[in-house]
Amino acid sequence: MGKVIAVAQQKGGSGKTMLTAQFAVAMAAAGSRVAALDIDPQGSLAAWGRLRAGAAKAGAAVDVTNVSGWRLAAEVERLKAAYDFVLIDTPPVIDSDARRAIRGADLVLIPMNPSPPDLWAAEGTLKLAVEEKRRVVLMFNRAAANSRLRRRMETEIAARKLVLLTEAIGNRAAFANAFAEGLGVTEAGPNGVAAEEVRAAVAGLMGYL
Ligand SMILES: Nc1ncnc2c1ncn2[C@@H]1O[C@H](COP(=O)(O)OP(=O)(O)OP(=O)(O)O)[C@@H](O)[C@H]1O
Ligand SMILES: [Mg+2]
Repeated sequence: MGKVIAVAQQKGGSGKTMLTAQFAVAMAAAGSRVAALDIDPQGSLAAWGRLRAGAAKAGAAVDVTNVSGWRLAAEVERLKAAYDFVLIDTPPVIDSDARRAIRGADLVLIPMNPSPPDLWAAEGTLKLAVEEKRRVVLMFNRAAANSRLRRRMETEIAARKLVLLTEAIGNRAAFANAFAEGLGVTEAGPNGVAAEEVRAAVAGLMGYL
């Protein structure tokens, strides 16, 4: 059975879709069978998947599908049986679909900017994960390498006994540019800093699966 990662965070624009795409590509490039499931009615990940189908540089096979509602749980089970990893991109709301996704996950990954409003906004997702008894890992996206605010957030997260992924993702145009072409940064610029960050974050995540 494959492992399921639900990328969830009530805060909009925190990087759920972008990171789902980046991690899916990096995992597939490392040799895993990977499915990416879009359950957000905005459909951004599915749109990325369609672009990817025509992208010459898209080397790794990522199966991108979308589903919502009562079919969600069965779709997650189906994908789990066929793939090593299933990444679920969820919408910025706490609703029954978010609950279904979290219920079906081995790990709930919460991306956030290292700033207080993003941690406050994560409360609903954290509560849901606790209710469903799911393991949660927070990660910093669009993080400065070393800022006072980032250190403060690290302290706050540790004080709450929450798990923070050591590896963070910086604010880099390379992420948005690769996404716009249906690619991951590990394909668009495999030797760049962004690609290095993604590979490091994936390696870190493996420690929780
Ligand atoms: N690390 C980053 N560096 C640069 N741009 C980023 C980064 N992470 C995300 N972005 C950009 O920020 C915007 C929001 O990211 P994304 O769509 O992944 O967030 P989201 O959490 O999925 O949003 P929503 O809640 O609306 O689904 C996108 O344009 C994306 O390309
Ligand atoms: Mg999104």
